[in-house]
Amino acid sequence: MKYGRIAGWGKYAPPKVLTNFDLEKMVHTSDEWIVTRTGIRERRIAGEGETTLTMSVAAARQALERAGVRPSDLDLILVATSSPDYLLPPVSSMIQDRLGARCGAFTLVAGCTGFVYGLATAQQFIASGAYRTILVIGAEIISRNIDWTDRNTCVLFGDGAGAVVLQASDAPTGVLSFVLGSDGAGAKHLMVPGGGVAMPFSQRVVDEGAQYIRMNGREVFKFATRVLAQAAIEAVEQSGLTLNDVDLLIPHQANMRIIEVAARQLGMPMDKVFVNLDRYGNTSAASIPIALVEAIQQGRCADNSTVLLVGFGAGLTWASAVVKLGTLEPARYALWRSIPIRAKARARAAVGALSMRVGAMLLPLAQRARVTRR
Ligand code: UT7
Repeated sequence: MKYGRIAGWGKYAPPKVLTNFDLEKMVHTSDEWIVTRTGIRERRIAGEGETTLTMSVAAARQALERAGVRPSDLDLILVATSSPDYLLPPVSSMIQDRLGARCGAFTLVAGCTGFVYGLATAQQFIASGAYRTILVIGAEIISRNIDWTDRNTCVLFGDGAGAVVLQASDAPTGVLSFVLGSDGAGAKHLMVPGGGVAMPFSQRVVDEGAQYIRMNGREVFKFATRVLAQAAIEAVEQSGLTLNDVDLLIPHQANMRIIEVAARQLGMPMDKVFVNLDRYGNTSAASIPIALVEAIQQGRCADNSTVLLVGFGAGLTWASAVVKLGTLEPARYALWRSIPIRAKARARAAVGALSMRVGAMLLPLAQRARVTRR
């Protein structure tokens, strides 16, 4: 059995920042309410020309570069999103084309939980031996499905993308275990009612504002605090590890209070929990990969760290995964490592020969200069 080592990672956040103070001017809310009820201070909002495609490609290129993998080396691209550029074609194929990859690609919809579902799916293709190199992306532009006059939802969400490259490895790294859950009985608590085939786009959709996210925040809150810790415990048990072996918990970044409840239920101190929702808000399927990338970039994960990913979202869905990180070496080393040994030896020999020839060419010049100086 092969494991899917996380060989590369990347993220993209749109430059436009929307603060709580900006929102105070748009709806009846306050920075104080948003911070105390959610922990969010600001979020990124995609600008003109930015779409799920462009953000995904930006995050993916970083991940590929870090992994030392060319797009043509990819065997599969898997994109978790609830906000694709179009209903058709799938944004995953648009990403495959824009990257210049020649492989299969598909889009996976599991709300905010999508990225963990995607990671678990990718791991199966690698474990079975079907594929060796897979790009997994979580990307969302939730801001385009938000009613900016609805204070119940508009203060919560932000846009962004995160990506990882999984590569087949014999060492037990990558996704060691996972739990996927779904409870469609709670579907109505978080949905966009219009625009699908149940309520195709029409004047009625616009009149009812049915193209926007509708959420029963309290119900989603209760659901999240019920499933998060349980899902985390199950994944850890399946991996054969214990919670003490977990170096960092990376939860879905939706609400600080939800994260604190889950940490308390797990008995995990907050210094072992990664939080960045204060700067990004809830970026749905992008939240866990963006957090993972930032945790690595900020040195919160060391070589061979064990991280516990856990998410929840529309569906209602939940998912958790125990992920063992490999060596978090700089990309240039990874790139160097990806060059075959013989090619490296030939390159070294060529550089050696070239420097000898340059030296031989410069020697007479240096001797002449010495004679002139005398
Ligand atoms: O990825 C999954 C996505 N969804 C979630 O994670 C949502 C989970 N739920 C939550 O995070 C919380 O339920 C919210 C942050 C959405 C709401 O917090 P809450 O403590 O559950 O507040 P609430 O819904 O019980 O509302 C309390 C009050 C209400 O006023 P009344 O009825 O008590 O007078 C709301 O109208 O707060 C009011 N309120 C606001 N006030 C100021 C709701 N939104 C706002 C707002 N600013 N933005």
